[in-house]
Amino acid sequence: MEFQSSRVRTVKSSPSMAVSVLAKKMLALGEPVINLSLGEPDFNVPAHVIEAAHQAMLEGNNHYTAPNGYEALRRAIVDKFQRENGLHYGMDEICVANGAKQLLFNAFLATLEPGDEVITPAPYWVSYTDMVLLNGGVPKVIPCGAEYGFKLDAERLEAAITPHTRWLMLNSPNNPCGAIYTQAEFAALGEVLERHPRVLVISDEIYEHIILGNQAFVPFVTACPQLRERTLLINGVSKAYAMTGYRLGYAAGPKGLIDAMNKTQSQTTTCPSAISQLAAVAALNGPQDFVRAANLEYQARGAMVVEGLAAIDGLELQMPEGAFYAFPRCAAFIGKSTPDGQLIASDADLSNYLLRVGKVATVPGSAFGLEPYIRLSFATSREQLQQALEQLREAFGALR
Ligand SMILES: Cc1ncc(COP(=O)(O)O)c(C=O)c1O
Repeated sequence: MEFQSSRVRTVKSSPSMAVSVLAKKMLALGEPVINLSLGEPDFNVPAHVIEAAHQAMLEGNNHYTAPNGYEALRRAIVDKFQRENGLHYGMDEICVANGAKQLLFNAFLATLEPGDEVITPAPYWVSYTDMVLLNGGVPKVIPCGAEYGFKLDAERLEAAITPHTRWLMLNSPNNPCGAIYTQAEFAALGEVLERHPRVLVISDEIYEHIILGNQAFVPFVTACPQLRERTLLINGVSKAYAMTGYRLGYAAGPKGLIDAMNKTQSQTTTCPSAISQLAAVAALNGPQDFVRAANLEYQARGAMVVEGLAAIDGLELQMPEGAFYAFPRCAAFIGKSTPDGQLIASDADLSNYLLRVGKVATVPGSAFGLEPYIRLSFATSREQLQQALEQLREAFGALR
């Protein structure tokens, strides 16, 4: 019996989740696996946020809310954009959902006609292309490897646009490669888009607060204010406040688009958890020292991981500018053999070998649309990272 619709058959389950599940299975069997595959902060949620969730329940906020969430949450989001980004959004230009992930899905569900194209520079976050496919769209992947600084430029954007283009997907700081677009780079893309009024822009800015070097984060709308009426800024509390399990994301955009997204949400999940909404209010309105302390720790870990990987002959990488991943190119290892005689024909083979023999879980670049690379998350303790680097050094060294 075939249960899957033709649409579902076009997509795969999240590959980073799959690696992580395998790593957890190996751990359960007593294998000492270090899991560097998931993009999830290892810190606990700030205490005042947990307290706010507790209070929310005690005070009776245990029921459905409107699809666009509590007014207090939308107010906190409006204030966040004003305070941190100098951007002015109205209360009806904000929506919320069960994570940034659901916002992306809502946006595609609300807007894509069959065959609409979504320009997706690679490397991209694993879910973008599959979400487009699930909603009847066509991902148009533009490889932007290290030779392009991992970024899309005006010329290649212009060449990718067709009469069917509906969205341009941008993600800065980027998962998996850490690239941050400068104001000038965004502005150059904006100039191209001005000539193509049907194209909408998603700017996924969920890693806004994880900045590792001197390159500052710039919201797309700051660089391209003339495109404000066709840009959806996506953000959330998962990465900044380690609140991944609360499932709370938010977006800002033109009212018509926000209304359409709220409509799809009203017929799917109704609203994000009332408790998580009030916890997010506390996170956004409360003290921000957690965010600064976490960022300092990510900077120290990033430097440590990059130094450790640079010492492995054959890996090519730079210090990522933001987010918490290292994304080395590993072409030198493709075509080599493992000590038990297996050929490493792809980055997926390499990632598999590193898990099997090195006992370190990574995600191959192919999951992010760009080969041959591997992604290592440094959202884990320095001790674990040090140990992982030693195991990786040994495993890479054993390839012939
Ligand atoms: C680039 C990017 N966007 C969105 C998300 C999803 O975030 P959320 O937990 O808010 O759904 C992730 C999570 O890994 C991500 O890396």
